[in-house]
Amino acid sequence: MNVLVFDTDDKLNEAGANIISGIVQTSPRAVLGLATGGTPIGIYRQLAADFERGMFSFRNAVTFNLDEYVGLPEDHPESYHSYMRHHLFRHIDLPDAQAHLPNGNAADPRAECRRYDELIERHGQIDLQLLGLGHNGHIGFNEPAHALTKGTHVVELAEATRKANARYFLSLDEVPCQAITMGVGTILKAKKILLVVKGADKADIVAKALQGPITTDCPASLLQTHPNLIVLLDRAAAEKLG
Ligand code: GLP
Repeated sequence: MNVLVFDTDDKLNEAGANIISGIVQTSPRAVLGLATGGTPIGIYRQLAADFERGMFSFRNAVTFNLDEYVGLPEDHPESYHSYMRHHLFRHIDLPDAQAHLPNGNAADPRAECRRYDELIERHGQIDLQLLGLGHNGHIGFNEPAHALTKGTHVVELAEATRKANARYFLSLDEVPCQAITMGVGTILKAKKILLVVKGADKADIVAKALQGPITTDCPASLLQTHPNLIVLLDRAAAEKLG
């Protein structure tokens, strides 16, 4: 694993954007796994700026997002569909048909999970999977559990996760109780993984995830087994690393 620690948010975002755009520059048909949450917003902003300067094109790329809430209308401001449109897709030239997210409103969510896995498989391996980190060690919406699921599945969100995400909604009651998420098996199958974590509130979980035991109680700890993991941290998030 390659852990890089940055003094400024700008430098971290530049590094993250460069890693993503580097993949698209060398492989224009790259398959990218994308993430949501507060953490990647600065990286997406930098990517949009670099695109504006003509540094790369997403015209032939394909993207798969990690997850989506169940039951939120696609155009709800807090759906991950809206998030991706707002923070990245409307700024770049990725054709809509090549940007994939799970459909959280599918009549048959389990069939939707199968459809999503088949679609990912049809595109071969994900070249680069971008990940944030939940305070409880979740990646995507793979919450701590006795056992983790390999493929895309419907998950009950942990209370801690709903509370953490309530900041984006008018009240905790509005935060969905379920989501569809890519499984840990699919995440680990990516050729390269880019984990990005910011803030002192994540310092403990960063240390557990990267240096603690590999356990399903901390899904991110499974990333230690990946042969090509890059971790971008700000100083505060790196504080508890030994
Ligand atoms: C969310 C997302 C994750 C994200 C994590 C951290 O619930 N499902 O993909 O990495 O929680 O979010 P943030 O970056 O806002 O701290």
